[in-house]
Amino acid sequence: MINYDAQEKIFHLSNGEISYSIKVLKNKKLAHLYFGKALPEGIRGNHFMHLEKTSLTVNYYKDDAKFSMQNIRQEFPEYGRGDFREPSILIERESGSQLTDLKYCRHQIIEKKVILDQMPCTFASEKEAQTLKITLEDKVIGLKVFLFYTIFKNKNIIARHVEIENGNKEKLFINRLMSASFDLFDDNYEMMQFSGSWSRERHVEVRKLSKGHQSVGSIKGCSSAEHNPLIILKRPETTEDNGEAYGMSFVYSGNFLAQVEVDARSVARVMMGVHPMTFKWKLDRKEKFTSPEVIMSYSAKGLNHLSQQLHNLYRENLIAKRWQRQKRPILLNNWEATYFDFTEESIITIAKEAKALGIDLFVLDDGWFGKRNNDQEGLGDWYPNFEKLPNGIKGLSEKINMLGLKFGVWFEPEMVNVASELFKENPDYIVGDPSRANSYGRNQLVLDFSREEVVEKIYTMMAKLLTEAKIDYIKWDMNRFITEPFSRKLSSDRQGEFFHRYILGVYRFLGKVNKNFPEVLIESCASGGNRFDPGMLFYAPQTWTSDNTDAVSRVKIQYGTSYGYPLSAMGSHVSAIPNHQVGRKPPLRTRTDVAYFGTFGYELDPRGLSLEDKKQIQEDISMFKTYQNIFHKGDFYRLISPFEKNTSGWMVVSKDQKTAICGVYRVLNEASSPLEKIKLVGLNPTQTYHVNDDRYSGMVLMNFGLLLNDYYGENNVVGDYYSKVFILKSE
Ligand code: GLA
Repeated sequence: MINYDAQEKIFHLSNGEISYSIKVLKNKKLAHLYFGKALPEGIRGNHFMHLEKTSLTVNYYKDDAKFSMQNIRQEFPEYGRGDFREPSILIERESGSQLTDLKYCRHQIIEKKVILDQMPCTFASEKEAQTLKITLEDKVIGLKVFLFYTIFKNKNIIARHVEIENGNKEKLFINRLMSASFDLFDDNYEMMQFSGSWSRERHVEVRKLSKGHQSVGSIKGCSSAEHNPLIILKRPETTEDNGEAYGMSFVYSGNFLAQVEVDARSVARVMMGVHPMTFKWKLDRKEKFTSPEVIMSYSAKGLNHLSQQLHNLYRENLIAKRWQRQKRPILLNNWEATYFDFTEESIITIAKEAKALGIDLFVLDDGWFGKRNNDQEGLGDWYPNFEKLPNGIKGLSEKINMLGLKFGVWFEPEMVNVASELFKENPDYIVGDPSRANSYGRNQLVLDFSREEVVEKIYTMMAKLLTEAKIDYIKWDMNRFITEPFSRKLSSDRQGEFFHRYILGVYRFLGKVNKNFPEVLIESCASGGNRFDPGMLFYAPQTWTSDNTDAVSRVKIQYGTSYGYPLSAMGSHVSAIPNHQVGRKPPLRTRTDVAYFGTFGYELDPRGLSLEDKKQIQEDISMFKTYQNIFHKGDFYRLISPFEKNTSGWMVVSKDQKTAICGVYRVLNEASSPLEKIKLVGLNPTQTYHVNDDRYSGMVLMNFGLLLNDYYGENNVVGDYYSKVFILKSE
């Protein structure tokens, strides 16, 4: 899949579907030639590059007025030699100089996917991927840079990361290191970003590229709900099912920057990496640094196809093999049922009811530990509150298991309340500059996870519980942003490393839990979807998508999330009405029909349910269990956007195209409105499908669609918040 043409000095990575191509220039720097639909072998550099003399540009060589870094599309741009766009790398020497002059030295083709040191990353079996490693060197400062490109055989994916080694006598500082960068030929693209806030995560926003910088990022210490570490560049005419699009997704959970810079000649430089504003890393002699991984994807067949590349990659090459094989349990979480107000007895009653409904796993949320009776106290004391739970977590888990249910608990390992034993004993464990006051978020402070002993202390408490009690699931929460970023244990010249070291500490902890308790399923959470990223998915195959469980809000949130993440990653629960976040009252049918398109579970008090609702829930759970593999392993398609229309829809199709499930959601009802239909995609046009009591050819469903008014009931008086799930089965 990877070829090097020594004569043309061109690298060509291709899997027959996509091509990625790089050229070694005469100054031994790398030009970006191409990323897109597959090209044949034997391409020539001058088909892709045009060098010309332009006034005001600065030339690399005194006697070659045409050769300017400013006019060349680059692969790993540096600052200070004539390219005035933002660079991938910025290295500071002891002298204060930030100049580098990196040159191609050698390359290697590796017959597998390279795994990153201490960090989450995609993996692949030997035949599934090939990696190109290009070594660049700056001999003046003894700096070595290794660029890694993995191309996957059956996926339109290139995975990239960078390693740096200081071979110098003096120490160096990395002031900036982007994991990936490439220059697109033109700027006729729209940038899609997935932005929002607490309980309004990953809403789709689209803007036309224009000259200058456009970027999203986070400096909050987590990837954040404000902007997801995913951007898509699409042609203006690209739709869900047609046209070109590029995706860039960051396998990282901390501060990030995703940026497009359009220059004077309309070249669009796209880059992604750790946010340089909160990053500075000291490299002593012989020390190495590894950047997190960026996933790049290309599709010529529209946004659904682009998303499916990412879904398939994250399902098959990122989340642990165990969770690819094992079905996810259908859970009931007690948070919205009880909040902090529960006893062992009330929990057992809830669990009994849950079991009768067909639930697999009971999850005990916040409030079971230390003196935790509200959100002012207890964080950090990860041992049972015996007043609430006289038999502890062990006793409770046994009782829950006896009911035939699995058992899970909530943790927030990275945080501490001042009102806790942990803080009393270790007040210096927190993040913050001791010469200044700390800010509070949800009454809590952040533990300094950049420190090994802090991670170890919390891990020991958690491991004790996981060893003593039978715990099948952990909800790993993180409920505040990081402020006063300062580590009491880092030297002054290493304070710039704090944020990255913090996230490495989180990864180390999660990696240890995965290693020592591999059977424990982790669902990550950060006040809902505040840290929904591929980095977390590596350790925790599902993420609580949003604290907002309202069905109408969730259609938008899950729709936006689906651009980068598969349904099996999206925690989705049916909750009570009036909804606790927005007060809306959609029917149980609609709440369920939205939650189906995710991991599926419940977050309500089953004690208060009517007999009718209980019966419906039993049927709904059994329906989900029947089709769970289709939801979690099938191809997902967005059909009509809830950001654009009152009636929206999506569907999932089994890989063999024999079964499909389509969800339709109408927010408000209206009399005498135009007739509505939904066009399906991804079916086999030559097959006949049964939908309810009807039969349709795949071609009819895809070319005309399903007429929805037939399902709106007699005279369309079904009210607001209507939903319908169609199950299609081929003959
Ligand atoms: C966060 C989570 C919720 C719940 C609470 C408990 O807000 O997002 O789901 O677990 O914490 O305090």
